[in-house]
Amino acid sequence: MNEILYTRTYQIQGRDFEHGGEASSDIKEALKKMGLNSQVVKRTAIASYEAEMNIIVYAENGELILEVFPHMVKVTAIDRGPGIEDVELAMKEGYSTAPPEIREMGFGSGMGLPNIKRNADRLVIESIPGKGTKVTFEIDIPNAVL
Ligand SMILES: Nc1ncnc2c1ncn2[C@@H]1O[C@H](COP(=O)(O)OP(=O)(O)O)[C@@H](O)[C@H]1O
Ligand SMILES: [Mg+2]
Repeated sequence: MNEILYTRTYQIQGRDFEHGGEASSDIKEALKKMGLNSQVVKRTAIASYEAEMNIIVYAENGELILEVFPHMVKVTAIDRGPGIEDVELAMKEGYSTAPPEIREMGFGSGMGLPNIKRNADRLVIESIPGKGTKVTFEIDIPNAVL
């Protein structure tokens, strides 16, 4: 019932904007190929993209881990980086510490974490300032038949 159907790990390099979004696009394609509900695919892709870009913008490096179970998709984004001092504040819509050069690239609207929360059924953010951050979210698969 809870056996894992598929898993894949993506290495994400901080500041590597050139490849930014590749892991989440790959996740989207993998879930589509598995025949998952299109809303589940869309929500997972959006949340994964935000988590991936946060590693690229803020962290040294990290990983995006995709795990597909019969009843849910789970994504873990774990990084080595500055961490988040105040997670509650970081969750607020519009809150961003992105510097001007990052804003010029179109990031830093402060909607990433709220967007993950909106698209996920469950979200857990764990962070140790100075060490790194772990963002875990799950998206339920309705009427799961795989
Ligand atoms: N992986 C991370 N490592 C360190 N800080 C992060 C990370 N993800 C988010 N943050 C912090 O949380 C804030 C809000 O993130 P988010 O909602 O994605 O908005 P934005 O990326 O546009 O700033 C960021 O500005 C940053 O301060
Ligand atoms: Mg962001």
